[in-house]
Parts: sequence; structure tokens; C-alpha cells
Amino acid sequence: MNVTPWTVEGTIDYSKLMDKFGTKPLTPELLSRLEKLAGSIPPMIRRGFFFSHRDFDAVLKETENGEGFFLYTGRGPSGSMHIGHLSSFIITKWFQEAFGANLYIEITDDEKFLHKKNKSLEEIEEQAKSDILDIIALGFNPDKTFIFRDTEYIKNTYKLMIKIAKKVTFSTAKAVFGFTGETNIGMIFYPSYQIVPTFFEKKRCLIPAAIDQDPYWRIQRDIAESFGYKKAAAIHSKFIPPLQGFEGKMSSSLPETSIYLADSPDVVKKKINKYAFSGGQPTVEEHKRLGGNPDVDVSFAYLRIFFEEDDKKLREMEESYRNGDLLTGELKAYTIDKINSFLEKHRENRKKAEKLYDKFLYDGELARSMWNKTYS
Ligand code: TYM
Repeated sequence: MNVTPWTVEGTIDYSKLMDKFGTKPLTPELLSRLEKLAGSIPPMIRRGFFFSHRDFDAVLKETENGEGFFLYTGRGPSGSMHIGHLSSFIITKWFQEAFGANLYIEITDDEKFLHKKNKSLEEIEEQAKSDILDIIALGFNPDKTFIFRDTEYIKNTYKLMIKIAKKVTFSTAKAVFGFTGETNIGMIFYPSYQIVPTFFEKKRCLIPAAIDQDPYWRIQRDIAESFGYKKAAAIHSKFIPPLQGFEGKMSSSLPETSIYLADSPDVVKKKINKYAFSGGQPTVEEHKRLGGNPDVDVSFAYLRIFFEEDDKKLREMEESYRNGDLLTGELKAYTIDKINSFLEKHRENRKKAEKLYDKFLYDGELARSMWNKTYS
């Protein structure tokens, strides 16, 4: 397996990844403390899709003692957003609602321009605006959320950024990110920008993201205290698998692996029917006799990760698939319906998001205060 912020390949062994990255498992004890504070916990956490953390126990403690925390997550606008990108934002929204925390969302147009060989800066900027509408459509609180594009907010952050950059050597960056002699120097500087938002407040920063983003936090945690800030905390998700099965991740640069937020109901139907890897048997007769395997079935994985909220319904479907009563075609039809009704609602919200764009970027309460601040 190979997991970096830019590449996820192979069959991922998440326990090995935790060992390699030096993160800790989200234990039942931590989850019950979270449940006590929030009243309930969302399916993605309850069902283990978010599985690992750094200093989440400190976040709980600082919530219990009234200090609180702030939230930070982000998106690199390299291509259209797909359902794999939603999990970190959905969980971030849950944390914002449950704890009333401020949230900063970094849109890394610089990173994606530097990383993508064949994209112009203008194309990336267009994509960034489109992605921001998808993010706003998820329903964040406009007065407690600041969304910023790196190329636009740079004036307010550059002084802090060069101070961060000065503390990170090229050999650390090479070891953590795998940079080589072919990497352009923009990419080598970029990590200092992804670290900047962890210093937007003196409270601890909690970052919900998939585990591919963890290398940045490793560096942040080495240097934060020397700046008078807290080490960032993170909760890490697994990857929503590509349609073809549990190798690598759903990726915007590989259209046949992904269900895009803009896919029409027909396209979703075709993609699931044609590509979604099935744990079912080759014939109905064999399926009824031997049963299916939900553990390797991609449609079932999408339901478990977020399209089926009801635990009881999910359990019944799992049993019925295992014992052969529920057929692959039926499971796929149910999944297609669930995804399409989610996407239909998302598209309605996205239309309304256009009116909120300026609020999240410039005029909301938090946005206004951020434009008046310079970090140094
Ligand atoms: P990006 O745009 O690659 O990904 C955005 C978010 O989606 C997560 N993600 C996935 N989660 C589950 N399943 C998948 N298949 C999947 N693919 C991507 C990513 O982990 C991420 O949380 N450099 C970042 C942008 C960024 C950022 C941040 C992300 C800047 N600051 C702070 C998280 C937290 C990027 O290009 O993300």
C-alpha cells in the first residue's frame, strides 16, 4: 500500500497505517465520552469509518472543562467533487452543530495548480468556486464558518507562513511527503500553507479528514508549541472505496471510479450497475444457496458509510444478503435510490448556496473578522 496526500494505492491495512503514522485508535471509551458530551454520535463514527485520531482525548477534556476547540478542514479543487469527499465535511458539520465551534475551510487552489501538470490556474480557480458551492450546500453555519481560497487570503497569512517554512527542513519534508528531485519547489513550500490554519485560534484545532492528510499534522505537532500554539488534534477516516472494490480510493482524476455530486440519476444507475463490485454470487441460484458477502460489496459499503442511517435496517439487509435472500440486483437498486435522493437534495441546496457564497467567504461574522486579521 502507498498512502500520501496525493496518492492512495493498494489494499489498505488501516492498523498498519496507524502504526506507520503513529496515530491511535478511536476506542469505545473515547466514543462514549463523546456521546456523553454530544448526546449521540453519528453513524460514520459509530460504525468505525472514522477509526483513528491524534489527541482527540485532549479535545474531549478541553470540551469537558469548557475551554473548547475550533474546527479546520479543506479541499483541493483538482476536479469535480465526488461522494468520497463528503465524509470529512459531513462529520465536520456534525461537530460544528454539536459543539458550536468555529470552522475554517481551506480551498487549496495553489496546491492543485502546483500539483496538476495539465491544469491552468484559471481552470483551478473555476473549479474552486464550484467546489465551494458544493461545500456550502452541506449546510454549515455561515456566521461561524470562514471559507478561503489560498491565492486570495495569502496577504493575511504570508508572514506566519514563512515563519513556519523556516522551521521545516527539506529533509523533513522529503521524509514526510516523499518529495523527490522532480518535485517543483512550489509543492515543497506548500505544506506551510496547510499548517497555517491550525494557528488561527489559540484553542486546540480539531481536524476531521481522511488519513491521507495526516502527514501535515505530524509536522504541525513538532513545531506548534514553539509558536505558542497547541498541537493539532485530528480524527481520521478510512477511504470511501472506488466503485471497483477495496483498493485505493475514489479519486476525482479517475472518473470511472467515482460517483460525482453532479452525476444525473441515470449516470448513477449505470455506474452502480456496471462497476460497483459485488459480493454476490454469479447466478441467482448460487446466491440463494451460498449467500452474498457484504464485507467486500461496494454498494453495501456505501450504505454502511453514509447512505443508510438506520442501524436496524442496515443490520437486516446485511443478514438477508449473507443468507442469500437479498439479491445483488435488489441491493444495487436500493443503493441507487438512496444515492439519487441524496444527490437530488444536494443539487437543490447547491442552487441556494449561490446566494450564500459571499457570506461564507467575506461577509459572515467569522469571515469579516478574519479579513481584519493578519497572522504573523
Ligand atoms: P482533497 O481535496 O484531496 O480531499 C478533500 C477531503 O476529502 C478526503 N478524501 C476522502 N475521504 C474519504 N474517501 C475518499 N475516497 C477521499 N478522498 C479524499 C480528504 O482526506 C480530505 O479530507 N490538501 C487537501 C486540502 C486541505 C485539507 C486541509 C484537507 C487543506 N487543508 C485540512 C483536510 C484538512 C486536499 O487536497 O484534499
